[in-house]
Amino acid sequence: MHAATRRKVAVVTGAASGIGLSVAQRLARDGATVALLDLDAEAVEAAAAKVRADGATALAVRVDVAVRASIDAAYAQVREQLGPIAILVNSAGIDGFKRFLNITAEQWERILAVNLTGTFHCCQAAVPDMLDAGWGRIVNISSSSAQGGQPLMTHYVASKAGVIGFTKALALELGPEGITVNTIPPGFIDTPMSRRSEEKGLLGDTIENHAARTPVRRAGLPEDIAAACAYLVSEEAGYVTGQVIGVNGGRNT
Ligand SMILES: NC(=O)c1ccc[n+]([C@@H]2O[C@H](COP(=O)([O-])OP(=O)(O)OC[C@H]3O[C@@H](n4cnc5c(N)ncnc54)[C@H](O)[C@@H]3O)[C@@H](O)[C@H]2O)c1
Repeated sequence: MHAATRRKVAVVTGAASGIGLSVAQRLARDGATVALLDLDAEAVEAAAAKVRADGATALAVRVDVAVRASIDAAYAQVREQLGPIAILVNSAGIDGFKRFLNITAEQWERILAVNLTGTFHCCQAAVPDMLDAGWGRIVNISSSSAQGGQPLMTHYVASKAGVIGFTKALALELGPEGITVNTIPPGFIDTPMSRRSEEKGLLGDTIENHAARTPVRRAGLPEDIAAACAYLVSEEAGYVTGQVIGVNGGRNT
């Protein structure tokens, strides 16, 4: 448990499912007050109810991270009901599997809009609170596919590589202000997103077979990412910024 997280307001995007949900639950257990943001209104309400059932304060807000007005409105609600934002974890994301020549401009733009521009909106709208406090923690969830490449995912990989570069540049700019910015590129985490891709035969193999080839011999769990996040948003991670912290069972180094 990272006690310094206690009572700080944490915003987690994509918090209705998978990695985002696990991060929200973990930060709440570490004592944070959590705002869960997601496109899926019903699922994010249910997720916040789970967090509250553990005794934490949690607010659910429906957003589309690709739309700045949606983020501005959600943050206004967070500030009014919970207080200024100290911690931000960007986990909202969408994947896509298409041969390069079949990717439409609309599909390219939507993936970039959610995964990369969404990260920009959520960070830019939160940073003023962190500057006022002289303290802040940002973790952007990218993807190990941006480290090694991935066939049929040029649009997705480009968006996640953008998140890695964005993180490094923002960390340099915000370092002097007491704000750290890091990125976790997960590798094969067992979540609804990867199970959906597995069902459609898009992973090239089952998650279990991928796990068998992973050095630590298991698939990643959302809790593995949440644990790394809990460290990165803690007080004691203040000297860690601009870093790409792989959580992938040893698949990429
Ligand atoms: N699961 C993996 O193996 C894996 C690997 C690498 C990277 N990632 C990344 O981790 C993040 C979380 O993935 P996951 O596996 O938990 O997926 P998931 O599909 O289980 O959860 C993603 C959540 O993001 C929400 N979302 C999608 N578009 C949104 C939007 N426009 N605005 C707000 N919310 C939106 C969805 O409703 C969903 O609740 C994603 O960014 C994904 O690209 C996952």
